[in-house]
Amino acid sequence: MKDASPQALYLADYTPPAWLVDRVELTFRLHPSATRVVSRIAFRPNPETANRRFFLHGEDLTLISAAIDGTPVTPDITPEGLVCDVPDSPFTWEAEVEIAPEGNTALEGLYMSNGMYCTQCEAEGFRKITYYPDRPDVMAPFRVRIESDLPVLLSNGNPVGQGEGWAEWDDPWPKPAYLFALVAGELVATSDTFTTCEGRKVELNIWVRPADQGKADYALDSLIRSMRWDEEFYGRAYDLDVFNIVAVDDFNMGAMENKGLNIFNSRYVLASPETATDRDYENIERIIAHEYFHNWTGNRITCRDWFQLCLKEGLTVFRDQQFAGDARSHAVKRIEDVITLRARQFREDNGPLAHPVRPESYTEINNFYTATVYEKGAELIGMLRRLVGPEGYDKALTLYFDRHDGQAATIEDWLKVFEDATGRDLSQFSRWYSQAGTPRLKVTDDFKDGTYTLNVEQQTPPTPGQPEKAPQVIPLAVGLLSPNGDEVVPTTVLEVTEAAQSFRFDGLGARPIPSLLRGFSAPVILERDTNAEERAFLLAHDTDPFNKWEAGRALARDVLVAMVTQGAAPAPAYLDALAAMVRDEALDPAFRALALGLPGEDQLAEDLHARGITPDPLAIHTARERLKSAVATHLCPLWVPLYDQMTCPGPYSPGAADAGRRALRLAALAHMARLDQGTKARAHFAQANNMTDELGALSILIEIGAGEEELDRFAKRWGKDRLVMDKWFALQTSLAAPDRAVSRTSSLTEHPDFHWKNPNRFRAVIGGFTMNAAGFHDPSGAGYDLVADWLIRLDAVNPQTAARMSTAFETWTRYDADRQARMRAALERIAGRDGLSRDMGEMVGRLLA
Ligand code: ARG
Ligand code: ZN
Repeated sequence: MKDASPQALYLADYTPPAWLVDRVELTFRLHPSATRVVSRIAFRPNPETANRRFFLHGEDLTLISAAIDGTPVTPDITPEGLVCDVPDSPFTWEAEVEIAPEGNTALEGLYMSNGMYCTQCEAEGFRKITYYPDRPDVMAPFRVRIESDLPVLLSNGNPVGQGEGWAEWDDPWPKPAYLFALVAGELVATSDTFTTCEGRKVELNIWVRPADQGKADYALDSLIRSMRWDEEFYGRAYDLDVFNIVAVDDFNMGAMENKGLNIFNSRYVLASPETATDRDYENIERIIAHEYFHNWTGNRITCRDWFQLCLKEGLTVFRDQQFAGDARSHAVKRIEDVITLRARQFREDNGPLAHPVRPESYTEINNFYTATVYEKGAELIGMLRRLVGPEGYDKALTLYFDRHDGQAATIEDWLKVFEDATGRDLSQFSRWYSQAGTPRLKVTDDFKDGTYTLNVEQQTPPTPGQPEKAPQVIPLAVGLLSPNGDEVVPTTVLEVTEAAQSFRFDGLGARPIPSLLRGFSAPVILERDTNAEERAFLLAHDTDPFNKWEAGRALARDVLVAMVTQGAAPAPAYLDALAAMVRDEALDPAFRALALGLPGEDQLAEDLHARGITPDPLAIHTARERLKSAVATHLCPLWVPLYDQMTCPGPYSPGAADAGRRALRLAALAHMARLDQGTKARAHFAQANNMTDELGALSILIEIGAGEEELDRFAKRWGKDRLVMDKWFALQTSLAAPDRAVSRTSSLTEHPDFHWKNPNRFRAVIGGFTMNAAGFHDPSGAGYDLVADWLIRLDAVNPQTAARMSTAFETWTRYDADRQARMRAALERIAGRDGLSRDMGEMVGRLLA
């Protein structure tokens, strides 16, 4: 196993830094191929350790000169950094290095994107900028001088001076190097001011390239709402005089919370009704909030080491989910979050890449920015809040900010705060951080003499390196309904702590119908033998919106499983229940649109596999298409009235209400297209005045095997807009019919606009194809080869983005022997390449272990 290789790092091996930093001064003389970075760093011995070895990280740097207290020194340079003899007392280190941002295609450290300079330092990119103790438990105030002819020069903190060709920035808040940022370019700002609850007047700027001017209003609005929300709900105010956000086209992930200077993938900043979908607006709002919230949960309190990544990410995702729920609809938001959690995190947790929310070892930390650390990490916070209650949670958070402000903390610190604030023992809860795998919760019930009993068993399957699991504390929110649909026991949280346990409810007149795991109160798989009648009953009567949706989803899943395994016809019970739900005007349109959605093909493959059935991706695809058509036919009279009813009068608004109406209207249109060969969808496409409708209609057409003409028109119209063209590429590779997906994707890789070194474009084309389950799993293995070829090619240029996409193969053990052999062969071909990156080496090693 790769984990046992010499470069693997272990949580258990943590040692404190030998040297601490009191102050950092940096000067950048920017040049595309020869940037000079001059550093002046005040070091002092760490009183907490006797270790005095002086090691600075540094990668791909040319050292020009180095001095200690003004005296030149000659350190020993290795590929990872340098060591040097130093005094036993505080001293000043000075160094000058040269770097080449123009040739930096890995997009980590200082690099260039469309003529602008920018940085990405999390997790370990700062060592590509200068020699430094590049670890999050070394925190220092930074002062930065930038010299360049470019008009806009930005760094962290407050501006302290500028002139012809230079600018200086000072960040008074001690920070780890991963939060360092610098931007230089020709940029324009959309600006406003915000006065904090502490009376600080803050200048807000969203910087974009001049051609994108006018597309930052929604990001700015989202920022202001986030700042207000964090004050109101967490008592957290902003702490500098300026907050800058910059949109960058070439970016490995979503965005980065650098102190006072957030850097964003431009797709999560730029929006106009014509070019961005409702989903894009929602993502912008969420990610702007996420990065802003990091100012307290991440920056003011950071992580001691990268094993603690979930300390900031899990908590910050939880906070952005709360914010988005407040801004939109809690029920809809929860359903969407659980759909993503299952699609990404459950998939990860049930395959070869499963790892604990706090991993115990890694080779390349970039490989651990995962759904488990982020999304399951957020679920753990949600469970904690449920267990201690909202007041307990607020008390604990207040204590957390008081106690750990300015520190680099651990999960132990975090849990201790909850124990101290609420008096609750969290030793069993801490297993959620160390045990990987998705717990299975098996629930049976009895009813006798007015007493209803729920019998609960928990069991977590083995995961790599963890054959045995101990029971975890699982908050199981339940409600009980009487047979006439009344709620007889409102939501109650049962604490499951044992491997097997029973819970009793007395004084009931009749056997109730249980609504289990309300609000998805824990990230577990609920196993309960039940029938379609009970599910249909819950779909009709459950007062918990999540479980109402869940009942419909489970019905759909059972129908699809029966269609795939027995060639059954779509069950009328499901179709009737769906019809009643669609007609129910008391329900939020967004909710109805979600309830009309079917489980995805990959999700169904996972469900079949869990039932001991080898999934056939093509059979799944076919069944799903058949069910969509059956729904279209069975509910036929509903679609046109629904389509006509769900218009949005007035100008486009990205808010939840209109977005929900558009989603339901497009769902109606998608079913209509199966009855009228796309006539109405073509008209909808032609008349669309916003990207949600335009793209929605286009994807409906592609799904029914039409839309070629519209694809061309779309490309003519949007050829110059790179974010819109990403959608054009992704739609084709992800929605192409199974027998055409490989050839379609290959031909798109020859398209002159397939700029594969741009991560967004690579993700659109190759990533889009990996989402096309039946196409990717083509029995010939051509899909696997296509992806492997491109991963090999990208790995040489950008290991981080390449390694991340190798997760397309994480489900390989689910499939038949022939597909397994082909996927294994593709992975082994990648593994056998000379010069494979550490990122990719670790990923394929774990995938094949
Ligand atoms: N901290 C950033 C965020 O979640 C993400 C940084 C990702 N870095 C990486 N190397 N993958 O907001
Ligand atoms: Zn984050």
